Amino acid sequence: MAITMRQVGPCFAAEVEGLDLRKPLTKDAVAAVHDGMDKYAVLVFHDQRITDEQQLAFTQSLGDIEHAIGTSLRPLTDQRLPSTFADVSNLDKDHKVFARDDRPRLFGLGNRLWHSDSSFKVVPAKYSLLSARSIPSKGGNTEYADMRAGYDTLDDEIKAEVDGLVCEHSQIFSRSILGFTDFTDEERARFKPVRQCLVRTHPVTKRRSLYLSSHAGGIVGWPVPEARSFLRDLVEHATQRQFVYAHKWAVGDLVMWDNRQTMHRARPFPPHEPRDMRRTTLMGDGPTAEQVAA
Ligand SMILES: [Fe+2]
Repeated sequence: MAITMRQVGPCFAAEVEGLDLRKPLTKDAVAAVHDGMDKYAVLVFHDQRITDEQQLAFTQSLGDIEHAIGTSLRPLTDQRLPSTFADVSNLDKDHKVFARDDRPRLFGLGNRLWHSDSSFKVVPAKYSLLSARSIPSKGGNTEYADMRAGYDTLDDEIKAEVDGLVCEHSQIFSRSILGFTDFTDEERARFKPVRQCLVRTHPVTKRRSLYLSSHAGGIVGWPVPEARSFLRDLVEHATQRQFVYAHKWAVGDLVMWDNRQTMHRARPFPPHEPRDMRRTTLMGDGPTAEQVAA
């Protein structure tokens, strides 16, 4: 069966047909998926009732995996999934829904702000692949914003201003926006800011995009309030509805996105209902900016 891609978003995002993610991909299929990602940046695969092993195999056929180690507040003794998965569900290791005031849950609510996965890591993520195993009765959409469109539609003065800027990213910044500030010394050390360039150029298409994220809490060389208000304006510009695709999940959907070219955010849903979403992540090629010694 031929692989087809049909655009579903206003300016990007496509649904893919003709692939069974339970089976190994041919070399041509791998190339087609990468080509689709370069073009659309978000690909939607419906009716993929896959196991963890199949999700992992599909992910690894596309590149090197990023492990989820030390990036959440789930204690090591309460891990539901191995480190090859980022557990973005609301479930503990016994598959029970987190209490509303559960600390790892409240930390995880940072995913409801626009962000790019792992922008707080020196080598940030390339693709994320999210598989819906169970979904709430309402809400819980994931929204995606096209950061190429965000860049392309800046006026020339702002394009000149963002050129060459470097931001500091940390989960401490994104969580503090929601009033989550009670980090331990160990967590503050673990979530030390990293540097990321503000404008990225795609290695294949050469398209430029804004590399924004709620994790960005400063611009190197700028006073903090000025940097944050500037970044806030850029996020507001880049997430206008005409640049946003909202994905309404069905069980069996797998959505893959390019973190280099998009931002995303989770939308709220009833807190007592289970939402089992499992993410695998591909590592990026390298740092986007030079780091400074601690
Ligand atoms: Fe995310």
